Amino acid sequence: MTEKDFMPSAYSFMPDSGSFTWRSPSNIALVKYWGKREEQLPANPSVSFTLDACATTTTLSYEKRKTPASGFSFELLFEGRSREDFKPKINGFFKRIESFLPFLRHYDFTIETSNSFPHSSGIASSASGMSALALCLMSMEREMCPDMADNDFTRKASFLARLGSGSACRSVEGKLVVWGDHPEIEGSTDLYGIRYPDGVNPVFETYQDTILLVDKGEKQVSSSAGHGLMHGHPFAERRFAQAGENLSELRRIFREGDLKAFTEIVESEALTLHAMMMTSRPYFILMRPGTLEVIRKIWDFRRETGSNMCFTLDAGANVHVLYPEAEKTRVLEFINNELVVYCENEHYICDRIGFGARKL
Ligand code: PMV
Repeated sequence: MTEKDFMPSAYSFMPDSGSFTWRSPSNIALVKYWGKREEQLPANPSVSFTLDACATTTTLSYEKRKTPASGFSFELLFEGRSREDFKPKINGFFKRIESFLPFLRHYDFTIETSNSFPHSSGIASSASGMSALALCLMSMEREMCPDMADNDFTRKASFLARLGSGSACRSVEGKLVVWGDHPEIEGSTDLYGIRYPDGVNPVFETYQDTILLVDKGEKQVSSSAGHGLMHGHPFAERRFAQAGENLSELRRIFREGDLKAFTEIVESEALTLHAMMMTSRPYFILMRPGTLEVIRKIWDFRRETGSNMCFTLDAGANVHVLYPEAEKTRVLEFINNELVVYCENEHYICDRIGFGARKL
């Protein structure tokens, strides 16, 4: 497939008004996407667990205009309040996707969006937010193309979400999603996320993710700036190749449920992501002292108890603690006894692997 395949033929019908609501989850990458080319194409393949509890709910209401707007016409309400400061991002998104959704200038939109997690929690909402909006827009397009197959709907929703925020393309479906071309994974592509198509041991089907909110502040470096710093980065090429190799190894690990090897790959990916940040020019550190303390405690606990709990990080200080459901009681007890002190206001979020976005 190419980008051109996502351009619709002329619409036979355009509805006057209506609204759609989607709830779309966040996701946590096991093999990280860090570095991109051209229009949000990944420099390496990645794979993520789709989450369940951390999600954005978006309602898109639309009314047909008498004449097409010169720019894009939309109001944006975040958690019930008008947010002018969020508008440039949506405007940029509309610009990028306009050739794939040529109806955009023909409508006045109201976008009402809210998150299940607190806004200032250091949890990125771009993956859940952009995928929820892309899905609402696709529901609208489906009204104009009622014969659209489910597969085409999902694929294009992921494709559009990617143009909003790369990792958002991995939030449309569950439970494990691959984005980026990988020679051993059939159907994998840089254009959109696909459900991981190969064997997965049942242990991963109910994996838990407890997110420790070590620092709820705004990120010091946006992820787009971070991706940008991979251009000309001295280790970039090796890193991009390593991501592909790690994904190859994960195929066996997913199939066999080899949790020791899983831990090694996942933790190495998290630390490599941060190592890339620490070795770019300019360099930066997103981990906080609490992040390192948590990692050390997790390693100690694993050594002492033989637990399969491991950690991963996204582009921030918060720690995602991943573990099999069978260890839930023991791990939560450990978190409550040993790790909450490193969380801002002792705040953490219990999440788990989920099924993907849902129309409400
Ligand atoms: O989707 P973006 O541009 O916000 O980039 C996300 C990058 C990481 O979260 C650090 C890794 C990933 O694969 O999700």
